[in-house]
Amino acid sequence: MTSSIEHLAGILPDGATANAAGHLVVGGCDLVALAESYGTPLYVYDEATVRARARAFRDALRGYPGRSTVCYAAKAYCAPWLLRIMAEEGLALDVVSGGELHTAAVAGFAPERISFHGNNKTDDELEMALRLRVGRVIVDNVEEIGRLADRADAAGVRQGVLLRVNPGVTAQTHAYLQTGAVDTKFGFSPDAVGGAVKAVLARAALVLWGLHAHIGSQIGEIEPYAAAVERLFALAQEIAKLGVDVREISPGGGYAARYRPSDPPADGPAMAGEVARMVAESSRRHGFARPPDLAIEPGRAVVATAGIALYRVGSVKEIRGVRTYVAVDGGMADNIRPTAYGAEYTALLAGRAAAPAEQSVAIAGRYCESGDVLIREVRLPRPRHGEILAIPVSGAYHLSMASNYNLVPRPAVVVVRDGSSRLVRRRETYDALLSAEV
Ligand SMILES: Cc1ncc(COP(=O)(O)O)c(C=O)c1O
Repeated sequence: MTSSIEHLAGILPDGATANAAGHLVVGGCDLVALAESYGTPLYVYDEATVRARARAFRDALRGYPGRSTVCYAAKAYCAPWLLRIMAEEGLALDVVSGGELHTAAVAGFAPERISFHGNNKTDDELEMALRLRVGRVIVDNVEEIGRLADRADAAGVRQGVLLRVNPGVTAQTHAYLQTGAVDTKFGFSPDAVGGAVKAVLARAALVLWGLHAHIGSQIGEIEPYAAAVERLFALAQEIAKLGVDVREISPGGGYAARYRPSDPPADGPAMAGEVARMVAESSRRHGFARPPDLAIEPGRAVVATAGIALYRVGSVKEIRGVRTYVAVDGGMADNIRPTAYGAEYTALLAGRAAAPAEQSVAIAGRYCESGDVLIREVRLPRPRHGEILAIPVSGAYHLSMASNYNLVPRPAVVVVRDGSSRLVRRRETYDALLSAEV
């Protein structure tokens, strides 16, 4: 029988192994020891894996015949330590709220390398983006064009913008993760793009750089990207008639991560390289004198595999002939994905990482909802009260979506590297839970 570790190659962070005690080791650190010293639930990020994925995306675009930029989509996980690493690795940044923008400012992220997204940015957020001098605002709707231009005028700023286009592409992913289908709240539908272009051109405070599309998340096939790129270039050709020189194209992010051994392999950087080739080819075919600047926006595929969640097993409850529920001290408030859209994971016992699986169990969260089940079925060595359960591929869209449901403090976060660990986020305290109450 293959050990759990071999079984999880490409799902665990790079270089994960088991030590002589049979404990799972990530970034040279024993995860059972980390759980003991920092408490649980604990999110552990392997710095080497984050850096390797960020570099792989940069490298994937090196063959593009024009300028290229990898913008890390901060919505996957946004924290100062992480944004500093992204900057060090030469990535730019996609933010989607004043909070993410503020975090980027605190991290010292170069504002001209920030793109500001959102389908309903507030006036305050637009003013903040202008004040900080972000490089691009990705404009989503006609109202926003007027609101942004008025504020740019008042601030004496000429703001670079891209138009977010809804390319009418239905990606093969969960319906809640599709963002580029015909029926979506995001962006301008193709028939509205001409009007949007005219509205931008009418405002001297705005500089139209190009077009953006994002078709969804957890996408494992190249075809929807091909369709979106084709649509973007068709629109670029169309708006050239209005005198617009499309200097920048962004086909967004969405590259899949692999969550379970039964999932198909996922290679985001390889897909991004393919997207870059399609953009170069489309630009030639549509008669562009030179390829436009290319920006891509991976979030999940940069950080998902680098993160691993550690929980402590509480009760083990067998409903004879039905199911065994293994309850852990976290759940839907730190990982809403299984409850929100049926996301599926695997797990292993951090203290018996290579032990053979004996039993099929469900991993239940601690929150007061029947839907708070992290994993419906996973095979494990028979789990015991007090053991540490590890859920890999927890680096994206967990903590960034976390809540204080049931008024449970959110987990601590540590970063591991070369055998040492550092706390980057304290476990919330009960007082912190009440800090905003008046
Ligand atoms: C505009 C935009 N860009 C990039 C992303 C990142 O997607 P992913 O994390 O799947 O790469 C998202 C996520 O929804 C998005 O809305």
